[in-house]
Amino acid sequence: MIVSDSEENIRRGAELIKRGGLVAFPTETVYGLGGNSLDPVAVAKIFEAKGRPSFDPLITHIADLDGLERVALVKDPLIYRVAEKLWPGALTIIVPRREIIPDLVTSGLDTMAVRMPDHPTARELIRLSTGAVAAPSANPFGYLSPTTAEHVEEALGDRIDLVIDGGLCRVGVESTVLDLTRDIPTVLRPGGISVETLREVLGDVDVLDRTSLTPKAPGQLPMHYSPRKPLHIVDSPKEIPSAAPVRTGYLSFRGEGDLSRFAAVEILSERGDFVEAASRLFAALHRLDAAGIDVIYAQRVPSVGLGAAVMDRIYKASEK
Ligand code: TXA
Ligand code: MG
Repeated sequence: MIVSDSEENIRRGAELIKRGGLVAFPTETVYGLGGNSLDPVAVAKIFEAKGRPSFDPLITHIADLDGLERVALVKDPLIYRVAEKLWPGALTIIVPRREIIPDLVTSGLDTMAVRMPDHPTARELIRLSTGAVAAPSANPFGYLSPTTAEHVEEALGDRIDLVIDGGLCRVGVESTVLDLTRDIPTVLRPGGISVETLREVLGDVDVLDRTSLTPKAPGQLPMHYSPRKPLHIVDSPKEIPSAAPVRTGYLSFRGEGDLSRFAAVEILSERGDFVEAASRLFAALHRLDAAGIDVIYAQRVPSVGLGAAVMDRIYKASEK
């Protein structure tokens, strides 16, 4: 059930989380499917609701630095530096965990993922519940991430106790995942904070290359963020066969070229702004997936700033 983000509803959501329930809530990146990170039964329910075949480790969301210190071992001064400069925000850090966090949250690893979201509703919900809320993106396993409450309700509504509506997510792609347990801080997933920004704050930052610019063996591809319809990547609309016997949708970066022949068109940012493009990406893909078309062509976006996160999600959407 979708409810507004009134103080009363946030309290109600917090009570549900305390009692082991599941509450979908807005963050600045995407909607999260939240449960008490300190309660293994609640965490198991998250996996069940998403239909995740494997127990991928989850992000624990906190409201303040006390929350961080309660769940993680914060010895490395780098952690405070990152927290001070980039939190609250679209950055998840991998740090050593404390015993209080159940194995199911971390997949048995001795590290954990932590994030302080930059969204008042999210932080209030976390603060009023248990101070530690485990939340993956609130989509069924493998499907597009949700950037509106309606996306969540359509796909998972019957499996969640409450969906708190905070409108459209401002950032629109998931957080950047930064591993601080390595010698050099390493980006494991590009996201809402660009690598350029991380380098300004931290100096040397490595990026793990998992985004498969090089082909991988079939079956090894990470099936993630995919629309139901096939999606192909092109550099320009000219590459798309004009005699294609199918109804075609086009995801354009800036809206350039002749787009009149497509049955459905989504433009990410006419002014070529990567932040705007990221914020619109998932909603555009959801609309194309719901449009009366058979195939989606998506235009390549330059991998600069948040363009890297957008392109990462477009690659993943193209992998079946
Ligand atoms: O923006 C976001 O990050 C959203 C909102 C709801 O906060 N959440 C999200 O969660 O995208 P999820 O579960 O879809 O992605 C969590 C990512 C996965 O890539 C997972 O592998 C990684 O975090 N992760 C979690 N714990 C980890 C650990 N101990 N070591 C390495 N990676 C970890
Ligand atoms: Mg996800």
